[in-house]
Amino acid sequence: MREAQPATIYLKDYEPPAYRIEQTQLHFALHEDYALVTATLSIARTAGAPETQALVLHGQALKLESIQLDGNTLGEGTYVIDEASLTLEAVPGEFELRTVVRIEPQNNTSLEGLYKSRTMFCTQCEAEGFRKITYFLDRPDVMSIYTVTVEADAARYPVLLSNGNCVATEALASGRHSATWHDPFPKPAYLFALVAGDLSVVEDSFTTCSGREVDLKIFVEPKDLDKCDHAMDSLKRSMRWDEETFGREYDLDIFNIVAVDDFNMGAMENKSLNIFNTSCVLASPDTTTDAGYQRVESIVAHEYFHNWSGNRVTCRDWFQLSLKEGFTVFRDAEFSSDMGSRTVKRVEDVTVLRTSQFAEDAGPMAHPVRPDSFIEISNFYTVTVYEKGAEVVRMIHTLLGAESFRRGSDLYFQRHDGQAVTCEDFVLAMEDASGVDLGLFRRWYSQAGTPEVSASGVYDEEAQTYTLTVAQRTPPTPGQTDKQPVVIPLAMGLLGDAGNLPLRLEGELPDTETSDNTHRVLTVDSAEQRFVFTGVNEAPVPSLLRGFSAPVRLDYPYTRKDLQALISHDADGFVRWDASQQLAVQVIMDVQAQLDAGSEPDVDPLLIDSVAAVIADTSLDPAMVAMMVTLPGENYLAELASHTGQADVDGIHAARDSVREALASALSEQWQSLFGRLHSVEPYQASGPEIARRSLCNAALGYLSADSVDGVELALAQYHGANNMTDRLAGLQAVAYFGNDVQRDAALADCFDKWHHEALVVNQWLQLQAMLPLEDALSRVQALMAHDAFDLRNPNKVRAVIGAFASGNPVNFHRRDGAGYRFLREQVAVLDGMNPQIASRLLGPLTKWRNYQGRGDMMRAELEELAAVSGLSPDVFEVVSRSLA
Ligand code: PHE
Ligand code: ZN
Repeated sequence: MREAQPATIYLKDYEPPAYRIEQTQLHFALHEDYALVTATLSIARTAGAPETQALVLHGQALKLESIQLDGNTLGEGTYVIDEASLTLEAVPGEFELRTVVRIEPQNNTSLEGLYKSRTMFCTQCEAEGFRKITYFLDRPDVMSIYTVTVEADAARYPVLLSNGNCVATEALASGRHSATWHDPFPKPAYLFALVAGDLSVVEDSFTTCSGREVDLKIFVEPKDLDKCDHAMDSLKRSMRWDEETFGREYDLDIFNIVAVDDFNMGAMENKSLNIFNTSCVLASPDTTTDAGYQRVESIVAHEYFHNWSGNRVTCRDWFQLSLKEGFTVFRDAEFSSDMGSRTVKRVEDVTVLRTSQFAEDAGPMAHPVRPDSFIEISNFYTVTVYEKGAEVVRMIHTLLGAESFRRGSDLYFQRHDGQAVTCEDFVLAMEDASGVDLGLFRRWYSQAGTPEVSASGVYDEEAQTYTLTVAQRTPPTPGQTDKQPVVIPLAMGLLGDAGNLPLRLEGELPDTETSDNTHRVLTVDSAEQRFVFTGVNEAPVPSLLRGFSAPVRLDYPYTRKDLQALISHDADGFVRWDASQQLAVQVIMDVQAQLDAGSEPDVDPLLIDSVAAVIADTSLDPAMVAMMVTLPGENYLAELASHTGQADVDGIHAARDSVREALASALSEQWQSLFGRLHSVEPYQASGPEIARRSLCNAALGYLSADSVDGVELALAQYHGANNMTDRLAGLQAVAYFGNDVQRDAALADCFDKWHHEALVVNQWLQLQAMLPLEDALSRVQALMAHDAFDLRNPNKVRAVIGAFASGNPVNFHRRDGAGYRFLREQVAVLDGMNPQIASRLLGPLTKWRNYQGRGDMMRAELEELAAVSGLSPDVFEVVSRSLA
C-alpha cells in the first residue's frame, strides 16, 4: 500500500547542486545472480554552499555493503538510507567517498539501470537510472570524469565496454577478465553506459574533417552480423553531414553502437557507446521494410548528433529536456531531408505531429515544450518535448534564416561546451548571433496547447488588393487557462490561374525584382492581424502555412475548387499534399453524415477526379503521389472530430472504408496500370527512387485488393514472390485485410512458418494482426499473447501486440462493450509490476476518454479502477491521476 502520494517536482524550485563529483571511479564485478558495484567518488562542496549542507546521494534498490569516507569505514548511525537516498549529515569540503553496493541485474525487469537483455549485461541510465546502479548525484548538472572497470566471466562475456577509451585489459583468476575504460569528457550520469556480452562486431572507420581516424564498431549477436551495413553507412553519412551542415566534428577515436533486444525506447546516446533497440539499428532486405530502413537511418543520425546537442552541451535539469531532444530531432529531420525528399519527410513528420502531438496538447497530459512540473520524468519523453520541440527550433530557423541560425548554433556550442544549460541559453545564443529579438517567441517554450489560427481573405477587384486577415487563439490546457498570442511564422503565397502571383504588401516599395517574390513569411504575433497585398490582378487562392511553417491548426474556408487548385498547381509540395488531405477529410465527413442519416454513401466526384489527376501528374515524385492518394488515418480523423465535438470511431471507420472503396472501384483501371508499370522483382535497393516506387506501387495494390478478389490474388502473389520485406508485408497486409478467412489465415501461418527465427519479422507479424479491424480482433490479440513468440518482458513485443491494438485498432479498442478498455487496463496493471515506463506509455489511449462519443464513462471507469490499485508506480500514478483530474 502506498503511504504517501509520489511528490511533484517543480521547475521553479530548481537549485544548483551543493556538491560536485569531479572524478568517478567504478568497478563492476558481474556475476550471474548479483553484481557488486564499487564507486569511488571525489566529491567537493560547491563554492557558496553552507558547510552544514548535508550530502544527499540518490540511490534506489541498492544494498549497501560498505561505505568509507577518506578511507575510514563509516559505522551505522553516521548515515541515513531510505528507499531513494543516502544522506551524510556532515562532510568535509573535499573528500573521497567509497561505496560498495550489491544489485541484481538478472532480476531487473524495468530495463532501467543495469539489467540483462538475453545473454548480455547492459545499462540504460537516462533519465534517472544511474541511481539504480550506485549512490550518486544523479542529476544532469553534476558532470564527472569516469574511469570504469568491468569484470566478468571471460567465456560468457568476452566483450566488455564502457564510455571513452579502453585503457587496460586483464586476465584474472577463475576464468574471469576485466577491461578498464576512461572517458576524458565530463558527463552527467545519464550518459554512462556499460555492456558485457558475447557479441560479434562489424568494423569500419571515418576520417574527420581535421584528419582524425575514428574506429566505428557495431556490436550485435552473431546471428545479426549481416544486418549492420545500413546502420554503418548511415553513421558515416551522419558524421560527414554534421561536419558540413553544423560544423560539428567527432571528438574521440572510437564510436561504438550496441544492439539489444530488450529496450524501453528506440536508442540512447551514451557518450561514445550508443545502445540501440535492435529494431532501430538492424536492417536487411528480408527483415526490414522501407520505413524501417528510414527509421534506422534517422535514429542512428539522431543519437550521433546528440554527441554535440546533448553530450558536449547537456541539460541543466530535466525540465530542459527539449533543449537536447527538440534540437536533435530538428537536426535529424534536416539530415533525412538532405538524404532523401524534403517534402516527403515533412509530410511524414507533420502527420505524426497532427495526429499524436495535437491530441496530446488537447488532452489531460498537455504540457509545454519546457514542462513546469512532473512526478516522473520518464512520462515526459513525449511528442510535445520531441516533435513540437523540434518545430519550435524549426521556427527559429525560419525566423532567422539559415545563415543566422548556423551562427546561433555555433555560438551556442562554443559558449556552452562542457556545460549543463537551459532552453533559455539556446534562445539567447540565437538572439545574440542574429540580432533578432525572440522576446515573445519564448512563449512557445512555456505555453502548452496548439494555437488555432483562422484566416480569411477578401479580394477587391477594383483596388487590385487582397486582404488576408489572420486571427489566433490558444485554447486553455490543464493548469494554464489564460493564453497569450504566440509568434507564428506564416509562410505563404497567392495562387492565381496560371501559377503563384508576385507578392507586395501595402506600403512596400514596388518590388526590386529579386529571386522569388511569390513566396514570403508573414510574422503573426497578435490576436488579430491584417495583411493587404497590392497589385493583385486576379482573385487568388491563398497558399498558407507552406512547409507547415508553424505547429498550429489552420482554418481557412477553402471551397473544394480552391483545394483542387492548390492540389494541382501550388508551388509548395506540402500545401499540395495538405490540400489533398483536406479535400479527403471533407468528403469522408460527408459520407459519415450520409451513413448516419441512413442514406447511401455518395462520394463527391471531385475527390475522384482529383485523385485521378494526381495519379496522372508525371511531374510529381511517386512518393508524393502515394501520400496524396492515401486517405487520412482514422486516428487523425478522430483527432479532428474531437477537436470540435466527440469522435464516433465506428462512423469514421465506416465512412473512410466506403470512400476508399469508391476510389478503388472508380479508378480501378488507373490502379491496375500503376501497379503494372511499377511492380518489379529487381534486387532490393533502399534508395530514394526505389522506396518511392514501392510506396506508390503498394498504394495501388491496396486499392486493387480492396476492390476485387483479383486484387487479393495479386496481393497473394506479391506476398509469395517478394524478394524484400516491404513488398512481402504489403502483400500480406492486403491479403489479411481484404482476403477471405482461409486466405488470411493461410498467409499469416505461412509467414510465421518461414520467419519465426527472425524476431524483428515476428514483431511485424504480431503488429499486423493486432491492428486487423476484424470482429474477433480482441480474441486474436489474446491468442497472440499466449503464443510462444510473445514475451511480456520484451517491450518490442508488448508494443507490437498490446500497443498496436490500443492505438492502431480503433474500432476494436473502442468496442461498444468496453472489452478493449478492460483488456488494456488489465495489461497495464500487470506490466506496472514489471516495467512501469512501458505500462505508463501503454495507457495513452485511455487518457483520451473525453474525446469519444458514448465511450467516455467506460474509459474513465477503467482509469478509476487503476487508480484504486495499491502500489502503483509513480509513472502510472501520474498518468492516471492527471487524466482523471
Ligand atoms: N535520449 C534518447 C533519445 O532521444 C531517448 C531515451 C530516453 C532512451 C530515455 C532511453 C531512455 O535519443
Ligand atoms: Zn534524443
